Amino acid sequence: MISITDLTISFGSIRPIDELTLSIDSPTHGIIGPNGAGKTTLLNALSGFVTPDGGSIFAFGDDLGSLTPRHRARWGLRRTFQTEQLAEDLTAYDNVAIALDHCGGDESRSVAEACSIVGLNQPDRFVGELTTIDRRLTEIARAVVGAPRLILMDEPAAGVSGAERSRLVELLTDLPDHSGAWLIVIDHDVELISSVCETTTALDFGTLVANGPTSATLADPRVAETYLGTSA
Ligand SMILES: Nc1ncnc2c1ncn2[C@@H]1O[C@H](COP(=O)(O)OP(=O)(O)OP(=O)(O)O)[C@@H](O)[C@H]1O
Ligand SMILES: [Mg+2]
Repeated sequence: MISITDLTISFGSIRPIDELTLSIDSPTHGIIGPNGAGKTTLLNALSGFVTPDGGSIFAFGDDLGSLTPRHRARWGLRRTFQTEQLAEDLTAYDNVAIALDHCGGDESRSVAEACSIVGLNQPDRFVGELTTIDRRLTEIARAVVGAPRLILMDEPAAGVSGAERSRLVELLTDLPDHSGAWLIVIDHDVELISSVCETTTALDFGTLVANGPTSATLADPRVAETYLGTSA
């Protein structure tokens, strides 16, 4: 279980996360909300990329908030980004190997196994030559290599459509079973969130709008009003 208590983050006069208290009780959890709601900032706080003004973050009983980003990586925290973070002039395999090295080189899942779990068929190709879906799979392989415990994904399906999107949805849905890690995923596409996530949080202005089973969160009138822009 992930427990976030009274979390506050501010940048000058902007407060993207405002005394947020939230518990995540399922291995596939979605985060939705309009642009600027604080979704990415929340993942940045979980990763340790921003320092909260106050509050605590516990994951599976461990005080994640007290660890540096590097120690969180060694603990088993992984992240994919809204903007890709791959080295273009290296192979997909080497990009995954760097991730393994960064998180302490725990070989419990090898680079080859990680590539196989995500369905990356040609890991020896240079990232610069890969299609959008294979680049995305490379990022996900970076998240599952070694011994991940919690994987955070920021809009993993952006720019992917059709059959490739369905393939990605299937991969994400099965990821906790295949990787042993819990998944927290941000996306604007409520269809994707519904397919992948057992539970979902809706945020707006850095505060909680709804949290619980995905169907219940999406049915909440405040979600329809604040996220979908309609009144229920
Ligand atoms: N480093 C920063 N410095 C100043 N303001 C920031 C910083 N990071 C985020 N913000 C502000 O915090 C608010 C929340 O941003 P955040 O990126 O968390 O939103 P989001 O929900 O991920 O939005 P989107 O759906 O557009 O990705 C925005 O007003 C943003 O401009
Ligand atoms: Mg964002």
